[in-house]
Amino acid sequence: MNSPQNPDQTHGHGHIRSYVLRQGRVSSAQQRHYEEGLPRWGIPYRNELLDLAAVFGRTASAAPKILEIGCGMGETTAAIAAAHPENDYLGIEVHTPGVGSLLKEISERDLRNLRICQHDAVEVLRDMIPPASLAGVHVYFPDPWPKKRQQKRRLIQAPLVHLIAERLMPGGYLHCATDWEEYALQMVDVLAAEPLLENTGRLPGGFAARPDYRPQTKFETRGLRLGHGVWDVIFRRREEAA
Ligand SMILES: C[S@@+](CC[C@H](N)C(=O)[O-])C[C@H]1O[C@@H](n2cnc3c(N)ncnc32)[C@H](O)[C@@H]1O
Repeated sequence: MNSPQNPDQTHGHGHIRSYVLRQGRVSSAQQRHYEEGLPRWGIPYRNELLDLAAVFGRTASAAPKILEIGCGMGETTAAIAAAHPENDYLGIEVHTPGVGSLLKEISERDLRNLRICQHDAVEVLRDMIPPASLAGVHVYFPDPWPKKRQQKRRLIQAPLVHLIAERLMPGGYLHCATDWEEYALQMVDVLAAEPLLENTGRLPGGFAARPDYRPQTKFETRGLRLGHGVWDVIFRRREEAA
């Protein structure tokens, strides 16, 4: 994706990682759900296009497909899927405790419309998601990488935004949210520069009101406690080329 300044940061995958894999403690419940749930609800990464209708057992016209990048511990992902059984959701997260926690939610809430892929979302989008197949993409509170020298790790940059836009159906939406003002401004600028997208936000600065379908996330709660603001950015893929 980005042209690497330091080839080591790409780990041989051709793009800079937006995360650092921390060990993190995996609770015994997360471990159990991880082992039991991953074979059932996990989508293994493969370098081939995914048949989303086959994965969920219903077509895109029967149930729109929505992908989330970086589910974290998955409470928000599970809450949205539970509230919207008419849609199918694919969550992507690299962190094992988070994947275990989301699998626990899937099992305990008996969610049939949610699957998880434990892999770098950039590669999942690039290699597995067919063009014009998604009704929506959620990127909630991506790591802000606040230090100047780390900002190349931010997810919301032109190459990934272009890739997401191509994977959206015409009319499909890209919804980002952050509690980091300077990243929020970058999101609006980068999305506005993508010719396939148009802004739906009507608030000053091109921001959008938080839609009812997005509950408050764990990281958002933490940000609010620290006195941060919250910004939603929602663009839509144009029906026709600009
Ligand atoms: C700051 S957390 C936010 C989690 C959650 N969305 C929330 O609002 O509570 C960002 C998450 O994105 C994940 N992440 C970052 N880059 C990713 C990537 N390229 N692919 C998959 N997950 C990624 C991290 O592991 C982390 O769990």
